[in-house]
Amino acid sequence: MSIASDMLKSSETLFSNSDALDPDFVPKLLPHREGQQQYIALAIKPLFLDRNGKNLLIRGASGIGKTAATKRVLYDLEEAEESDKVPQVFVNCWTQDTTFKILCNVANKLGFKFTHNMNTSEVLEKIKEILKKKNGIVLAFDEVDKAEDYDFLYLLSEEISKKAILLITNDFSWGDDLDPRVKSRLLPELVDFPEYSLAETENILLERVKYAFYQNVWENDAVKRIAEQSFKFKDIRIGIVLLKVAGELAENAASKKVKLEHAEKAITKTDAIKIKASTDLTDEERLVLDLCKIHTGKIFGAFYEEYQRSGGKKSDRTVKRNLDRLENRKLIKQEPVTEGLQGRSSKIIYIGFEKKLS
Ligand SMILES: Nc1ncnc2c1ncn2[C@@H]1O[C@H](COP(=O)(O)OP(=O)(O)O)[C@@H](O)[C@H]1O
Ligand SMILES: [Mg+2]
Repeated sequence: MSIASDMLKSSETLFSNSDALDPDFVPKLLPHREGQQQYIALAIKPLFLDRNGKNLLIRGASGIGKTAATKRVLYDLEEAEESDKVPQVFVNCWTQDTTFKILCNVANKLGFKFTHNMNTSEVLEKIKEILKKKNGIVLAFDEVDKAEDYDFLYLLSEEISKKAILLITNDFSWGDDLDPRVKSRLLPELVDFPEYSLAETENILLERVKYAFYQNVWENDAVKRIAEQSFKFKDIRIGIVLLKVAGELAENAASKKVKLEHAEKAITKTDAIKIKASTDLTDEERLVLDLCKIHTGKIFGAFYEEYQRSGGKKSDRTVKRNLDRLENRKLIKQEPVTEGLQGRSSKIIYIGFEKKLS
């Protein structure tokens, strides 16, 4: 065998379908999430039989398949059942973050586009009117903790009779401070998404390699190395980005195989902490976290002054709320202190993604 036959020609590629490595790609099969998918499907199925659905709280850390598993169930049901009778609406509350925007989004997805001159209750009436001709509706609210207000949950649970509401979050304390009226209306059942083991992580990435690359392109130890890194950050997204980067590095080196050296190089080139942060936090939370890193140890009042000095525009209440969210994700700690005449305040201690790993 000559050296040339080991080399990739410039017209050749290792990727059979690089779309399978896109962040929004939803694979047909999600290994190790079969139980959760079945649970979600069972909450929706009654709607097809003229009964009421169940509401679920789908909870787990980020990058462990909550969005993908939920979307997979909705796509599959859409194909298998008479989906016209039970429309399914998936809303991301990170981009649609107020009650008005969320209801408009629901109406739009139900086929009604003329919401711009309407107010909240008019949009809600329109949704109800459309649903009169249906069996019910599936409403999935992804990243629900990112919404600025939760009136939409009250309105929808109060005004729509047949439904399954799926609430997806990576904030483990989300819902604790929800209005009791909303809570008692929703009574969601908890669907837990536990973290993947190293073996499961490797399995999932091996599966993804089959979707995205030609056969036998990957050497085993290369996938293993990427699985380790993905497992270290407890986030499949990082593994998928690394598969892509390593594949490109191999291709650029005209290698017919993705080898351990390409995996290693991809790991040094890719800032996993940034990937994790960008998928975990809103811009505002990110800004507050960056400031916590610089001003760790400061009392809230002094911290808020620094926040304003660096161009932050939100009220101290909003900043406090963002600090609480960061604390819920264990990215910072707030230690209560008694501060002279001002009474009680808290001291902000930065933890960050880096320390979470060790
Ligand atoms: N069990 C699995 N099988 C295949 N791919 C998975 C699995 N779990 C997660 N993924 C992939 O990992 C990435 C992160 O999953 P995602 O559903 O977005 O996480 P979450 O919503 O929990 O933050 C997505 O690209 C998803 O397709
Ligand atoms: Mg998600």
